[in-house]
Amino acid sequence: MIAIEKVGKNFGSTTVLDGVELAIAPGEVVSILGASGSGKSTLIRCINGLETVDAGRITVDGFDVAEKAGLAEARRRSATVFQLFNLYPHMTALENVMLAPTMVLKRPRAEVEAEARALLERVGLAARAEAYPAQLSGGQRQRVGICRALAMKPRYLLLDEVTSALDPEMTAEVLAILAQLAREGTTMLFVTHEIEFARRISTRVVFLEKGRIEVNLPTAEFFSEAGGLANPRIARFLSRMAAPEAAAPLSPAPTDAHEAS
Ligand SMILES: Nc1ncnc2c1ncn2[C@@H]1O[C@H](COP(=O)(O)OP(=O)(O)OP(=O)(O)O)[C@@H](O)[C@H]1O
Ligand SMILES: [Mg+2]
Repeated sequence: MIAIEKVGKNFGSTTVLDGVELAIAPGEVVSILGASGSGKSTLIRCINGLETVDAGRITVDGFDVAEKAGLAEARRRSATVFQLFNLYPHMTALENVMLAPTMVLKRPRAEVEAEARALLERVGLAARAEAYPAQLSGGQRQRVGICRALAMKPRYLLLDEVTSALDPEMTAEVLAILAQLAREGTTMLFVTHEIEFARRISTRVVFLEKGRIEVNLPTAEFFSEAGGLANPRIARFLSRMAAPEAAAPLSPAPTDAHEAS
């Protein structure tokens, strides 16, 4: 399992994570919700060692990510997909998916290629295996990114807003893949703004507020009146997400607004 124990993280004088306690057991699908800047991406980055923690400890199957050897083991067990499809532009979809298993795990090419083609087929991209990233749509690129993560056969899949750069149609394509992975029992920790999707596929929902875990509840309870919705911050967050046009305006209100009323 992934165990996050009393984790704290600061950037200069800003506290970004504060006493975060969270455990993700095999088979769980945990979504992380929270306002922009609440520390969601930082938490994911601390789990895969892209950031170091200032307090507490994170272990993946018992391996401490703060230690060099521990981090290598942790990275073998978990794979991360980010918002932007960071594929290698000079390699085809197939080559991108094959890279880590052949280079990092030093597995035989023929075997890896067969698996990579099967993965691409699973996400509906068998016919695009030889295409370069520039020849793929955003949704297709993100599906290749998911294949690339799965090619390492991770026990844990970490996803940080993998659909937020996509249009609704491509978002639906990628969410369908994630829903399928969830049904197959893939352990996932995912940051998302897709509330309905989180509700549909996660076993548990975590709400981060200013770097602290405000609630951590089974999904049905999180979305119940007596559970998560009883928390005014969560209720406000969910209603804002459901009706984005009701959110605070992006531009400051005109200073002479009172004269118009
Ligand atoms: N490398 C960095 N240096 C300084 N501050 C940072 C750094 N990375 C993140 N922060 C700050 O840490 C806070 C949390 O950022 P984080 O990216 O984790 O938020 P988030 O919850 O993922 O937000 P969003 O929903 O917008 O992606 C923010 O205030 C951000 O400005
Ligand atoms: Mg983020």
